[in-house]
Amino acid sequence: MKFSKTVGSTYFKLEQLTQDAPIDVFSCSIAEYDEYLQKDAMRSWNDHIALTWLLRERSTGRIASYMSLIADAIKLSVSEKELHDLNYPFKTIPAIKIAKLAVSHEFRGKYQGIGSFMISSARTIARKCNNYYCACRFLTVDADIEHNEGVRTFYEKNGFITNTELSNKNRKTISMRKDLYR
Ligand SMILES: CC(C)(COP(=O)(O)OP(=O)(O)OC[C@H]1O[C@@H](n2cnc3c(N)ncnc32)[C@H](O)[C@@H]1OP(=O)(O)O)[C@@H](O)C(=O)NCCC(=O)NCCS
Repeated sequence: MKFSKTVGSTYFKLEQLTQDAPIDVFSCSIAEYDEYLQKDAMRSWNDHIALTWLLRERSTGRIASYMSLIADAIKLSVSEKELHDLNYPFKTIPAIKIAKLAVSHEFRGKYQGIGSFMISSARTIARKCNNYYCACRFLTVDADIEHNEGVRTFYEKNGFITNTELSNKNRKTISMRKDLYR
């Protein structure tokens, strides 16, 4: 089934991970991502290192997906800045990074589009941040091609492009950005 915005708001809710939000079993089939949610996400929230959002199925309370967001800044080359009409003398542009994103294996089997829904939710959160609190122009991600070879395609389909200035020589991750206003 296609995961639309209506499905997202009717049958699911997006909530912040806090001490009051229990985490049940979560499996996205990459152990590192499962363990992060179980062991590290809460500590990172306490230490103000990462804020995690959970997508819960309303009827069961089960977690369909999670993402962790953090403040970021990216360096862009002159031509990269031109691409976004950013005519500024400095290289570094503010951003919000999707530090972790995973969709549960079980829910991936039921719905297509949960990952994309999470990206769109991250965009909404980042734009709210711009409207009320603090400026950021891009959503960023270090696409983890070590654990998921095709993940770059997933981000490209969701409007991300590769950061050439920040290209990572070890190639375990690919630094990517999505303009929040284009
Ligand atoms: C990567 C992940 C978040 C994508 O979530 P998802 O719900 O499967 O993605 P969507 O259904 O929204 O996919 C959107 C599009 O991307 C494509 N896509 C998703 N994962 C892909 C992959 N690994 N390789 C190639 N294409 C992929 C889908 O086919 C779909 O294409 P379409 O619009 O043409 O049909 C999910 O597979 C996951 O949790 N993986 C394990 C953890 C992980 O790798 N996280 C990312 C770390 S940076």
